[in-house]
Amino acid sequence: MSKRVLVTGGAGFIGSHVCEMYVREGYDVLCVDNLSSGKLENLKSLIGNPRFQFVQEDICHLEGLMHLFETFKPHVINHHAAQKSVVASLEDPRTDLDINLNGLLCLLQCVKKHPIQSFVYVSSGGALSKVIIGDEKSTESDSPQLISPYAITKYAGEKYLEIYAKEYDFDYTVLRYANIYGPRQIPDGECGVVPIFVNNITTNRTSVLMTYPDMPRGCTRDYVFVGDVVEANRLATEKAPNMVINIGTGKEIAILDIYQSILKIFGKEIPIRIEGPRSGDVKRSVLSNRRAQESLNWNACTNLEEGLLVLKKAMQVETI
Ligand SMILES: NC(=O)c1ccc[n+]([C@@H]2O[C@H](COP(=O)([O-])OP(=O)(O)OC[C@H]3O[C@@H](n4cnc5c(N)ncnc54)[C@H](O)[C@@H]3O)[C@@H](O)[C@H]2O)c1
Repeated sequence: MSKRVLVTGGAGFIGSHVCEMYVREGYDVLCVDNLSSGKLENLKSLIGNPRFQFVQEDICHLEGLMHLFETFKPHVINHHAAQKSVVASLEDPRTDLDINLNGLLCLLQCVKKHPIQSFVYVSSGGALSKVIIGDEKSTESDSPQLISPYAITKYAGEKYLEIYAKEYDFDYTVLRYANIYGPRQIPDGECGVVPIFVNNITTNRTSVLMTYPDMPRGCTRDYVFVGDVVEANRLATEKAPNMVINIGTGKEIAILDIYQSILKIFGKEIPIRIEGPRSGDVKRSVLSNRRAQESLNWNACTNLEEGLLVLKKAMQVETI
């Protein structure tokens, strides 16, 4: 009998790739998404597949979720649905709290009534980064900066999950993603710097670099290709290590360097405009992936150039 996995946020950028992986691996998949930022188009390779179902539902709607648990009886929960923007969380912290914590608690209430085997929770290594000094990297046991409501809700979510896993006897993995990029990502918010630049560059528009005066090349981030993230989800589902795990490359890249790499891949030369910083943005972020190697046997296999080339190719296929 194949395992049943319920994926929240499965119509989104990362979640849709994760749904495809589960179906490929022989799981029965129920994708739950309210389509607030996700799109059915992201699931076009799966619609009609007997192993795949899509239900438009909000994770904050407990009754609806409970019904889905009753009928689908998932063995595994993979939780990607979220309010994902640091900026939006500062502007509207109540909505951030509602989706990122209340939504998670609705899922956990369902788990309490309908036992599961394991839970993959997606958190943010970038937002939960410590203050980086010199050539340090953020590890899972460092104290996070918690300078945005988004960071607070993601961190609190990790803690709720740990408590529920112990109390209701299921395995879990917290995957703290660095900055993910790849096909299907839409240009919005901080997570979307790659698609924002790609969009501007391919339409010959000027991009803006928002940074701190002491960071002239921009804030730094750790960029992981979505295919590598999917593999981390596969491994975490196969054998949940019951811990928080950073999913990053361990390479710190300034945003201006990302911009220049994209210019090169798309063969363009467009200057960038520099403006002041955005509140809530951590200055530097780079994740140690030692624990991911040791506990999941995971490594980021795709370098930035390879990942950007895959993205360019996917865009060319889309426009044919
Ligand atoms: N993209 C990144 O670089 C990055 C980095 C760190 C963490 N993350 C996390 O990864 C996850 C996926 O992010 P993404 O970049 O694919 O974003 P995305 O916006 O493409 O995906 C989020 C999905 O969740 C759905 N959703 C949102 N609120 C919902 C609700 N209340 N009920 C049901 N569905 C809802 C959206 O419609 C969307 O399909 C999020 O948890 C995000 O915080 C992403």
